[in-house]
Amino acid sequence: MEQINYLKNTLMHFRTTGTLVRSSGFLCKTMLSNIDFNNAQNIVELGPGDGVITRHLLNSMKQDAHLYSFEINEYFLKYLEENFKDPRLSVLPESAEHLIPELASRGVREVDYVVSAVPFMILPESLTESIVGACHQALKPGGKFIQFHYSLNARKYYQKIFKNIQIRFVPFNMPPAFVMVCEKLG
Ligand SMILES: C[S@@+](CC[C@H](N)C(=O)[O-])C[C@H]1O[C@@H](n2cnc3c(N)ncnc32)[C@H](O)[C@@H]1O
Repeated sequence: MEQINYLKNTLMHFRTTGTLVRSSGFLCKTMLSNIDFNNAQNIVELGPGDGVITRHLLNSMKQDAHLYSFEINEYFLKYLEENFKDPRLSVLPESAEHLIPELASRGVREVDYVVSAVPFMILPESLTESIVGACHQALKPGGKFIQFHYSLNARKYYQKIFKNIQIRFVPFNMPPAFVMVCEKLG
């Protein structure tokens, strides 16, 4: 998506996008460095935007793996539909809190990874807790929830649910970001 259109869309919907610029290549690669693509069968993505992380995921996924990307922004949804034709991708026009029933209706009972860019720090706390809880429920034991933030404050949401959290700092992003990797213990 052209930068000017991206900027217009994120400005108009700032309360759900939480940023004006896409994740950098460094941030995308750091997020995905936590994924074992040889063994990842089902991956969920929350908040793909115009697909900057989606593209990295599809480039690394096995041919028989599947990606379920949840997005609520109509403009991004239209862009994804028109520009991502990969049969391994399902773009779902649903809020992340509906993760469990949406996956169940497609016969998916558990997933290997959840990769999220949803700006939890600006969403209502109850919604954040409900989404993070649904992600934990959807993951198989040993599965990982991978999320970026611009501050460490959001750690509290994950500490409540996940016991094993690793954090990596990515300076080369606007603004610099923290990648939080939360493992579901068996
Ligand atoms: C910070 S942007 C990330 C865009 C892109 N993935 C990136 O990394 O640059 C956050 C995205 O989360 C989406 N979003 C916000 N709330 C959501 C929700 N409840 N369910 C699914 N997506 C949501 C927004 O529409 C937006 O596309």
